[in-house]
Amino acid sequence: MAAATPALRIEGLQKGFASPEGGRVPVVDLPELTLEREAALAVEGESGSGKTTLLHLIAGILPADAGRIEIGGHLMTGLGEAARDRLRARTLGYLFQTFNLLAGLTAYENVLLGMTFRPRAGLAPREAARRALERVGLWDRRHHRPEQLSVGQQQRVAIARALAGQPLLVLADEPTSNLDAARGAQCMDLLEEFCAETRSALLVVTHDPAVATRFARRLVLRAPEPEPAPPGRG
Ligand SMILES: Nc1ncnc2c1ncn2[C@@H]1O[C@H](COP(=O)(O)OP(=O)(O)O)[C@@H](O)[C@H]1O
Ligand SMILES: [Mg+2]
Repeated sequence: MAAATPALRIEGLQKGFASPEGGRVPVVDLPELTLEREAALAVEGESGSGKTTLLHLIAGILPADAGRIEIGGHLMTGLGEAARDRLRARTLGYLFQTFNLLAGLTAYENVLLGMTFRPRAGLAPREAARRALERVGLWDRRHHRPEQLSVGQQQRVAIARALAGQPLLVLADEPTSNLDAARGAQCMDLLEEFCAETRSALLVVTHDPAVATRFARRLVLRAPEPEPAPPGRG
């Protein structure tokens, strides 16, 4: 059998945004990154260094300006929006910084909704949602809506939603930023253990040293240098 393709492979990735003054502000410039299956990586960087943008690019929420992103050997870059949505649903779990739970739905419905877009052979959505909520200790709160749960509990529902489909790769955006130190550590324990059980690779972006030091493999992200101003002035 051929060696398994990595969970994530990035080459020559670039992204910038149009600046209000005209021109383009480079935000992500990542020549190379490989994350093997079931491996873990912390990406550190100050606020504004492009961490969230990088996750949006990997997840296909934003299109790249240049470069390649492969998820489990499948090319994300170059696909249209609908195909990116499908690839994301099949392969990724995403933990948003602000959880993004749907306010009108219960914990169980939020987790189940994540499964709807994640058709995976051998995983019955209701069974998978139940098991994920049991795993994060919230099965008895399954009928609660997000506003009826504590912030820590909301984060655990979001973890259940991201992991229920046993994704190839989990992307987590500053998962502890809304939690105190003790709950942040508990959240990271849960996330790392759950990823090990589902055999998911884990990429966490953070500016919190307490999170980053948990990881053997760390990458520091810096905002790319702004493009030089045109010469001949001053
Ligand atoms: N949609 C956008 N349009 C313009 N600029 C953006 C957009 N999204 C992010 N940026 C800019 O890109 C930079 C990096 O943002 P972000 O990826 O959110 O950083 P981080 O998550 O590391 O704090 C910031 O300067 C931000 O203002
Ligand atoms: Mg961010």
